Amino acid sequence: MSSQVSIIGLGNLTTSMLTGIDKIKHNYKINVIDIDKKKQSIAKKFNVSFYSSFTDILCKSDLIILMVKPNNYKDVIRAINPFLSNKNIILSFMAGITIAEMKKEININVPIIRCMTNITISTDISYIFYFMKSFNKKSDTKLSKFFNKFSILKKCKTEEDINKITALYGSGPAYYVYFNQIIRDSFIKMGFKKKDAIDYTNDLISGSANIIKENKISDNLINKIASKGGTTQAALSELNNNKLNSIISKSIVKAYKKSKNILKK
Ligand SMILES: NC(=O)c1ccc[n+]([C@@H]2O[C@H](COP(=O)([O-])OP(=O)(O)OC[C@H]3O[C@@H](n4cnc5c(N)ncnc54)[C@H](OP(=O)(O)O)[C@@H]3O)[C@@H](O)[C@H]2O)c1
Repeated sequence: MSSQVSIIGLGNLTTSMLTGIDKIKHNYKINVIDIDKKKQSIAKKFNVSFYSSFTDILCKSDLIILMVKPNNYKDVIRAINPFLSNKNIILSFMAGITIAEMKKEININVPIIRCMTNITISTDISYIFYFMKSFNKKSDTKLSKFFNKFSILKKCKTEEDINKITALYGSGPAYYVYFNQIIRDSFIKMGFKKKDAIDYTNDLISGSANIIKENKISDNLINKIASKGGTTQAALSELNNNKLNSIISKSIVKAYKKSKNILKK
């Protein structure tokens, strides 16, 4: 009989993960539970079983993956609690909700693992970072068996590292998209058609990503593009004079602080 994986919440991150899983061969039975019945059409597209209520498929699942917004965590954990068995491992991708907070809502002693990734899991082999409080070989093997097929697993030493990874890697794609939007709008402001501006900007970001991947250390790349007294140097000096590096670093620290206080308004 094939192993079962149940995912709670069929939103942005689950859709990205299912897109990644869809590209590989596996023999897992994947179930998705979401309270919104309209999400069934997404499940159908990925050929996974859909449930709009919590059922005993959960007690038969090797992995139960929580992918709901952090403010829904209590509702979801209370809903899965009656179906939990000692076969289960709970994996939470929710930003900022600690293992201790989740444990409070659960009656039986099942392993709970904090995980973090980002939406690029749909397109490429991305990292999945994880932390478990006390190392459990059985859980580690089950985790590797499933995730190693479509991602790279990285074990974190502390739960705090998961909060840092949330700010840097979980939110990370948004920082690049934000920059992309600034460049696109600059094309438009300089008189290019919107459609062309989008094409040129997207080509810039994917081309730049490719050369960063090929060169690993991007400092040398800047030297290859910017010559002394040239146009690139003029732009980079303006960015440095306005302390853009410090603004970006401070913004990431803000995201990190938020991940430690996720439910605070
Ligand atoms: N999106 C990212 O890039 C990203 C990256 C890293 C980590 N994460 C983490 O991943 C988690 C999910 O994020 P997301 O962006 O995928 O959220 P999302 O798009 O809002 O998806 C969550 C889904 O869960 C459903 N849901 C809400 N309450 C539920 C319940 N009680 N039982 C079952 N389903 C329920 C929601 O339905 P409704 O829409 O009807 O409420 C929605 O379809 C978050 O905790 C976030 O911190 C996200």
